[in-house]
Amino acid sequence: MKQKVSKKFYITTPIYYVNAEPHIGTAYTIIAADTLARYKRLQGYDVFFLTGTDEHGQKIQAAAEENNETPIQLADRMVERFQKTWKTLNISYDDFIRTTEPRHISRTSSLIKRLLDQGDIYLGEYEGWYCIPEETFLTERQVVDGKCASCGREVQKLKEETYFFRLSRYQERLLKYIEENPEFVQPETRRNEVLSRIKGGLNDVPISRRTVSWAIPFPENEEHTLYVWIDALCNYISALGLDEEERFKKYWPADVHLMAKDIVWFHGVIWPAMLMSLGLSLPTRIFAHGWWNFAGDKMSKSLGNVVDPNFVAEKLGADALRYFLLREVPFGQDGSFSLQAVVRRLNSDLANDLGNLLHRTLNMTQRYQDGVILAPSEEAASLGELASLARALPEKFNHFMENLQFSLCLEALWELIRRANRCVEENKPWELAKDEVQRERLATVLYYLAEALRLVTVYLSPFLPTKTEEMRSQLGLAPLKPPLEEASRWGLIRPGTRVNLGEPLFPRVELPQE
Ligand code: MSP
Repeated sequence: MKQKVSKKFYITTPIYYVNAEPHIGTAYTIIAADTLARYKRLQGYDVFFLTGTDEHGQKIQAAAEENNETPIQLADRMVERFQKTWKTLNISYDDFIRTTEPRHISRTSSLIKRLLDQGDIYLGEYEGWYCIPEETFLTERQVVDGKCASCGREVQKLKEETYFFRLSRYQERLLKYIEENPEFVQPETRRNEVLSRIKGGLNDVPISRRTVSWAIPFPENEEHTLYVWIDALCNYISALGLDEEERFKKYWPADVHLMAKDIVWFHGVIWPAMLMSLGLSLPTRIFAHGWWNFAGDKMSKSLGNVVDPNFVAEKLGADALRYFLLREVPFGQDGSFSLQAVVRRLNSDLANDLGNLLHRTLNMTQRYQDGVILAPSEEAASLGELASLARALPEKFNHFMENLQFSLCLEALWELIRRANRCVEENKPWELAKDEVQRERLATVLYYLAEALRLVTVYLSPFLPTKTEEMRSQLGLAPLKPPLEEASRWGLIRPGTRVNLGEPLFPRVELPQE
């Protein structure tokens, strides 16, 4: 991502359908967005982090009917579930937009009227396939044996009058824009997919329905309602306000729209074409991550529902789940989720590497120096190495973060953690403690370890917001404050700081056998 001159940062997640409970997949996008939002705040950006719920359409209408409730009853109930889950996972969103809110409905209608005024919408007839679970109009090629090629479920045949958006008109402009702005759609594989689809030719797309009542009325024709995807995309603007409104002027365009790879078509093609038609700037970046698969254990008999993030957070802690999701697979690739895999990571990286380093550092400071971190003196060779790794960390970490390479950020941090653990082995503080002459050296070793841990709390805080604060309190440090640049300097711990040795932060976990 280019370094922006302005200090604002607008980041979004997709708005989630309210027919399904939040699960590990939906939690993934928002955890990634939250981590980036926290990092940007730490850097001093004025961040606006938006999430919300997608509440209209045929699918929601049908789900509500099945439950014998009205769509809005279903939505109200599910919004509570989403918000509670996001709270459990420590998601620091700034706004939560619901597509049934008046602010969304009125601003979306205004945007559609503008598209009409542009001459980019016309009345026609759609004849073809529709996938209700994905709320998508399908081309012949997207239907295989009467099933949706993407989700494998039954499709519906539609023949109805509909308004079309002139997507074809934007084919050349879109192509040029995406070719000239390689960072616009990422990662590369998704960019290539979008490019080849545009090159294959863009047809105009239906944007209204005549047979769906649970939707925003179509401006200027009451017989029609707005197609749910067009309604949903408008949330990124309706949450800010329109052109002259303060929030819009401050935050638009979005710096990152985050999502999974399944909805790149809407964000990378339809949305930018709509924005072009509206004469608005395009988002800086659209990033699509991979898909989590649940290797057959969606429901585990003895362990409960492992796809429920509340369940995993309750069993293993929200921070452990956040850590696992962003560490286990490179952002952009698919992954396989299981409780065993989370526990493996928790035990090896969090309990063994990080938890141990903290506990032994504080323990030795307690035993050998009455719990006080003393001033460092000379640099033993191995400590010098630790300090130079620490000094190199900010630039490296920042580079990875700017590219949304979360797993590499964590690897870089763990390089430092592992190096610090080796320093303990190499310097053997327990032996230094036996020798009066080695007191200064001992103080130096313990200072370096504590300082490395302090730096870890800074950079790990966007990923593990709760545990890093606990670490800081055990290290005798005040809660972390921006700016990052200041907190990144090596040597900030004041000699004389008193540590608070506490319980191990990440106790090892043993799972019952299946
Ligand atoms: N409502 C639309 C989005 C409209 S945005 C203008 C939608 N909702 S959804 O609830 O079905 O899914 C939203 C997002 O959840 C996906 O894009 C993705 O970010 C995330 N995921 C849902 N299941 C997932 C996995 N199994 N794995 C990874 N992410 C997944 O689509």
